[in-house]
Amino acid sequence: MKKRVFSGIQPTGNIHIGNYLGAIKQWVAMQDRYDAIFCIVDMHALTSLPDPETLKAKTRELFALLLACGIDHQKSAVFVQSHVSAHAELTWVLNCLIPMGWMNRMTQFKDKSRRQKEMANVGLYDYPALMAADILLYHTDVVPVGEDQVQHLELTRDVVKRFNSIYGETFTMPEALVPEVGARIMGLDDPTRKMSKSETGAGHAINLLDPPDAIRAKLMRATTDSLTEVRFDPLRPGIFNLLVIYELFTGLSRPEIEARFEGKGYGYLKKELAEVVIEGLRPVQTRYQELTGEAGRAEALIAQGVSRVQPTAEQTLAAVKEKVGLG
Ligand code: TYM
Repeated sequence: MKKRVFSGIQPTGNIHIGNYLGAIKQWVAMQDRYDAIFCIVDMHALTSLPDPETLKAKTRELFALLLACGIDHQKSAVFVQSHVSAHAELTWVLNCLIPMGWMNRMTQFKDKSRRQKEMANVGLYDYPALMAADILLYHTDVVPVGEDQVQHLELTRDVVKRFNSIYGETFTMPEALVPEVGARIMGLDDPTRKMSKSETGAGHAINLLDPPDAIRAKLMRATTDSLTEVRFDPLRPGIFNLLVIYELFTGLSRPEIEARFEGKGYGYLKKELAEVVIEGLRPVQTRYQELTGEAGRAEALIAQGVSRVQPTAEQTLAAVKEKVGLG
C-alpha cells in the first residue's frame, strides 16, 4: 500500500516561486510514489475576506496552475476544500478539544493579526484547526510543506495524540516533509522576510504567470548588499536567496554555481538567473494557457477530484461522530 500524501494551498493573491519551490515542486515529485491528494483551500482563503468573484476565479486559476506545474490528475486527486463539507464539520469537533493555549502560540496568527488588526477574525485564529481537519480526514502520512507551516503540523500532531488518547485510535499521525533547500524563499525586495502572497509590493515576488520582462525587471531590482563576491553565504541573505533560486531551477551543485560566477558581479548573476527562471517557468505558462484555453475542461476536472476524495472524508467523519457521541 502506498503512503498517503496530503497538502494544501490557498487561492489568494498570486502563486509565486516560493510556493513552487517550497511546496508544489515536491508534490509533483512525490505523486508516483505516494497516494497523493492536493487541496485548494478556499475556506482558508476566506479568512482574508476576498472579493467573492475574485475568490472563485482564483480557485479555478490555481487548479489549472497546479496541473500546469505537473500535478497529474490521473495520479493525484486535486479538489476544492469547500466542495467537501466534512472539512468544516470535523473542524468543529477538533475545536472542542483544542485548548486556547495551543492556538495562542501560533506565530502565523500572531504575525498576521499584528499586521492587519481589523482583519484578525475568528476564522484566522481557528485556521490551524481547519488545517488539521484537512489532513486528518484522509489518514495522511506525509504533508509536504514550506517551513512556515511546520508549527501548524505540530499542532495537528498534538490534536492526533489528544483525540486518540481520549477516544481511542482514530487518526493517523502525520509528518511534515520540508525540503532541505527552498523551504523558505525570501522576498526579493526584502530578503529578511519570507516571500508571501499577501505582500503586494511590485518587486516582492516572482509569480508563476509573470511575463519574461516582469521577471527580468524584478530580479534586476532585487535587494542585495554592497559586496561583490557571489558565494552561498547565509549571512548575506539577498545574494543567498538568489543563489538558492538559481540552484533549485538549474539542479547544479553549490560548488558548480560558485565556480560559474567566480569573478563576475551581482548584475551578471541577476541576468543569468532571470533567463533560468524564465525558461523554468515557460513550460508551466504554456500548459496553463492550453488548459485554460479549453472551455469547461478545468471545471470537469474539479468535479472529478471531489468525487475521488469525498467517500474517504465522509467515512472518517462518520467514525469521528460515532466516537464523540454525535448523532
Ligand atoms: P499557502 O497557500 O500559504 O502556501 C502553500 C505552500 O507554499 C509554501 N510556501 C513557501 N515555501 C517556501 N518559501 C516561501 N516563501 C513560501 N511561501 C509559502 C507553504 O509552506 C505551503 O506549503 N495553511 C496552508 C495551506 C493548507 C495546508 C493544509 C497545507 C491548508 N490546509 C493542509 C498542508 C496541509 C497555507 O496557507 O499555505
